[in-house]
Amino acid sequence: MSDLLIRGRVLTFVAEPQGIDDTAAYRYFEDGAVLVRGGKVVDTGDHAVISKLAGADVEVADHRPNLVLPGLIDTHLHFPQTQAIASYGAQLLEWLNTYIFVEEQKFADAAHAGAVADRFFDELLSNGTTTAVAYCSVHPESVDAYFSAAEARGMRMVGGKVMMDRNAPDALRDTPQKGYDETKALIGKWHGRGRAHYAISPRFAITSTPEQMEMSQALVAENPTCYVQTHLSENHDEIAFATSLYPDAKDYTDIYARYGLLNERMLLGHCIHLSDREIGVLAETGSVGVFCPTSNLFLGSGLFDRDRFDKAGARWSVATDVGAGTSFSMLETMDEAYKVLHLRGQKLTPFNSFYRMTLGNARALGLEKHIGSLHAGADADIVVLDSSAKTAMEYRMRTAKSLLEELFILQTMGDDRCVAEVYVAGKAMKGKGAKRAAAASRLLETA
Ligand code: GUN
Ligand code: ZN
Repeated sequence: MSDLLIRGRVLTFVAEPQGIDDTAAYRYFEDGAVLVRGGKVVDTGDHAVISKLAGADVEVADHRPNLVLPGLIDTHLHFPQTQAIASYGAQLLEWLNTYIFVEEQKFADAAHAGAVADRFFDELLSNGTTTAVAYCSVHPESVDAYFSAAEARGMRMVGGKVMMDRNAPDALRDTPQKGYDETKALIGKWHGRGRAHYAISPRFAITSTPEQMEMSQALVAENPTCYVQTHLSENHDEIAFATSLYPDAKDYTDIYARYGLLNERMLLGHCIHLSDREIGVLAETGSVGVFCPTSNLFLGSGLFDRDRFDKAGARWSVATDVGAGTSFSMLETMDEAYKVLHLRGQKLTPFNSFYRMTLGNARALGLEKHIGSLHAGADADIVVLDSSAKTAMEYRMRTAKSLLEELFILQTMGDDRCVAEVYVAGKAMKGKGAKRAAAASRLLETA
């Protein structure tokens, strides 16, 4: 395979930005380039320097004047809810029962799961998301569909079969033993195969009995390199119901703590209404609270309190949470994150937003060696963003005077139309580059 030289205005982070424009936190190359070889970044920097490292048969993808960034990362969403986005009028528990537990039953059919998986991955890529952490349905077939579709596209993805053994329709319930056996088999099949990572996924305390929590504890102990994901403290009725089911627990967080589920590979969706004690437990265990702004607004769940996480030294990440989340776009998600924090009297700077979608989320997953930045040796998962993709954006951009302003316009006005190209392990998946590659492979077939 020949070298690929991706040219454009390159932006990549090395640390979390502090303050409005912390130039030590990022590297920006106005005429920059990323050299890719064998699916990995060889090096990133000024075009004049990087272009000299390329082999003689280098293919050049000139994206000037667009921005070139690491691929975006989404740390929580539900693949079986792809076709249930925008289900009207209910808060969490009613929404789950009315829409979601009906929709997820369709995934008993492997053909349906496969068809939705294709659309799901196409949506992620259209939106510039190259890695995501998703819940599948209770059916092992849905996990096979998910990781097969990821593998076909070469994407680094995290996912797992939801475990539920109560408070859900019969057709969506496993048992503690079945949930354990199916999860164990799926870990054996997928975890560490190519770019796949497994997430042990008890849906939340309401849909798992203490016996299923014990089985989840065993799975976590037996598979220390797997992720764990669940939901925590999203909605007041949910909190009351969950704590009533575990009367011995100090609070909602303590339910998961008692079963040994809290560790630095645990991703907890929402975390909106936590006490100081609970945030302290998350900080002590290194667990990650996942901020899902479009979902939290859509279901009327509440406003994530980032400053309390930061003050306590607790880790947090950002996510779409499709299908309660209303968009696959991480740009639109950060637009809503900005507004949610504004309502709390907190500020989310444009540089911090772009850090969060890339290196910040990679660090939340412990994957910063591989994804989230464009350092030498990283996976060549890359997104190209056009800040003038919409007419209103182009008009607004005429008055933008700085990169900071441009990033804020991108996040506030942007969506999938701004994604000019996306590369997965150095392979163009969307725009002209993908079309060139498809044409070349057709030529090879007919030769
Ligand atoms: N809590 C338990 N399951 C879900 C889900 O599918 N979506 C959201 N937003 N919250 C949940
Ligand atoms: Zn969720």
